[in-house]
Amino acid sequence: MSRRLEGKIAIVTGGARGIGEGIVDLFVSEGAKVVVGDISEDGAALEHRYGAEHVAFKRADVTREDDIESLVAFCAARFGRLDVMVNNAGALGDQTALLELDAEGFNKTVTLLLRSAALGHKYAGRQMIAQGQGGSIVTVSSIAGIQAGWSAASYDAAKAGLVQLARSATYELAPNGIRSNVVAPGLILTPIIATVCKIRPDQYDEFIESLEQPYGSVTPLRRAGHPRDIAEAVLYFASDYARHVTGQTLAVDGGLTSVTGIDIAGVVNRALEAFNQRTGRDEASEVGWLPTRHN
Ligand SMILES: NC(=O)c1ccc[n+]([C@@H]2O[C@H](COP(=O)([O-])OP(=O)(O)OC[C@H]3O[C@@H](n4cnc5c(N)ncnc54)[C@H](O)[C@@H]3O)[C@@H](O)[C@H]2O)c1
Repeated sequence: MSRRLEGKIAIVTGGARGIGEGIVDLFVSEGAKVVVGDISEDGAALEHRYGAEHVAFKRADVTREDDIESLVAFCAARFGRLDVMVNNAGALGDQTALLELDAEGFNKTVTLLLRSAALGHKYAGRQMIAQGQGGSIVTVSSIAGIQAGWSAASYDAAKAGLVQLARSATYELAPNGIRSNVVAPGLILTPIIATVCKIRPDQYDEFIESLEQPYGSVTPLRRAGHPRDIAEAVLYFASDYARHVTGQTLAVDGGLTSVTGIDIAGVVNRALEAFNQRTGRDEASEVGWLPTRHN
């Protein structure tokens, strides 16, 4: 079987660990050459792991416009072109409640998660147009950009903005053959949550492992998500298999955004049982119209 990214040149922001690292790993195995842009010097380890002819690390802070511009220029200089831009870098950012909103924290979160991706489109788009052969931009959002309750408002709003950004990008860039799509991960086992829980880096692996069962138990498919699950979806959008797909968001979440978190049958059954007891009604106190949830 031919490799799905053979001959393609890609940038993956936030590629030093977690989901980004999973994307780099899959992209390389599918034939791409990859530039990893990250604030963490851990990205340099990937260059050693895969070899400098396959992976190049460039320190880049996606909250800085000039870093994003330099990252694209570096990629073109190092590997000759850019075919795939993956806007993945992120963190949970400001976690204040709306009524206590930290306005500066909100700005920083939107700068990290939304402005960075818009600028990624700007510089990758310019490069791809100059090359004249189109390209693919894939942005990593979140189920928090689709449903509320997974994170705080700053993160949710920034991640939701990415869904519309891909549509705006489609409006402007599709005539140049540039596609823009979004992957929205569910609960994925990466250090992002360890960071916010203030776990020591040497305990990340142990902590992440401890989340496997709880993440799986609340996910309809009854398994926790892994970086590879997200990488497979990013690969689809990046590859020519998605040649006619743009402006779309794909939730890769084991079903989390497809089902309600509310046990409506339980709510009705409890009310019915109380009603039966109060009124002396001699009827079944369980309605059969929904299967009982066992979370
Ligand atoms: N893990 C999850 O459950 C989950 C769920 C939904 C969405 N996401 C999203 O997936 C993406 C990757 O998250 P992850 O779980 O792999 O997190 P992670 O913390 O494991 O990795 C994030 C990477 O981004 C880098 N990064 C952070 N700020 C940066 C900056 N300013 N410039 C450049 N690089 C920067 C970090 O150094 C790190 O290598 C993020 O956008 C995140 O919001 C994650």
